[in-house]
Amino acid sequence: MKRKSLMAGNWKMHTTAIEARSLAADIARKCPETTDREVLLAPPFTVLREVAEVLSRTDVILASQNVCWEEKGAFTGEISPVMLKDCGVSSAIIGHSERRQIFHEDNALINKRVLGALSFDLMAILCIGETEEEQENGKTFAVLEAQVRQGLQGVEPQQMEKMVIAYEPVWAIGTGKTATKEQAQEVHLSIRRLIEKIYEKNIADRLRILYGGSVKPANVDELMSQPDIDGALVGGAALDAESFGRIINFI
Ligand code: PGA
Repeated sequence: MKRKSLMAGNWKMHTTAIEARSLAADIARKCPETTDREVLLAPPFTVLREVAEVLSRTDVILASQNVCWEEKGAFTGEISPVMLKDCGVSSAIIGHSERRQIFHEDNALINKRVLGALSFDLMAILCIGETEEEQENGKTFAVLEAQVRQGLQGVEPQQMEKMVIAYEPVWAIGTGKTATKEQAQEVHLSIRRLIEKIYEKNIADRLRILYGGSVKPANVDELMSQPDIDGALVGGAALDAESFGRIINFI
């Protein structure tokens, strides 16, 4: 089954308005003409409007780095799906390992965010991944299974059209260590089989599973050559238009 690739840049806590405009414009110029892939940018909340304006005549998808589940109310420090849509956002990254580790977001909270995003028709990118210690103790799949099952609790089969999963081994994020293409492929296939168990084959076949963690121009082609790797979630290298430009033009 041929799935459209999704190449996502997560800018994390980087860029002022001027920097964001210029980075988005430089990246937009490097977007490939082909229809076999999509490009997505997730800038900080504070520059979403600026980036939306720069991207307005392009096909680049605008995403947020998190999302609350409620439309409005007493949720100090949170941003609602309605507010994000008002800024031109159509997708949200949820459960990034930095949210899990630094801000202690757990699977139950992340699940609320996923359900909230989907109920407002945002494409939800659920991030999962094991820590180095969990990997060393042979717990990778158990951890990923819990993150997937709990993260997707209550997501209806028809809503899976709007779901993306990003597998990002925590030990590979920002460290320069990447899973080998074989390691990543094996995990991606096991995630797809799990989705088949929870839902059905057709849904599993259509689901896009991205790889993240030190994706760079030097390793993107081999990662993207794997049958179950449908895209990349890129941090550091997404802050440089040259590098991200090469990544989105993977061969
Ligand atoms: P990295 O980050 O590419 O800098 O490793 C990936 C991510 O955190 O999404």
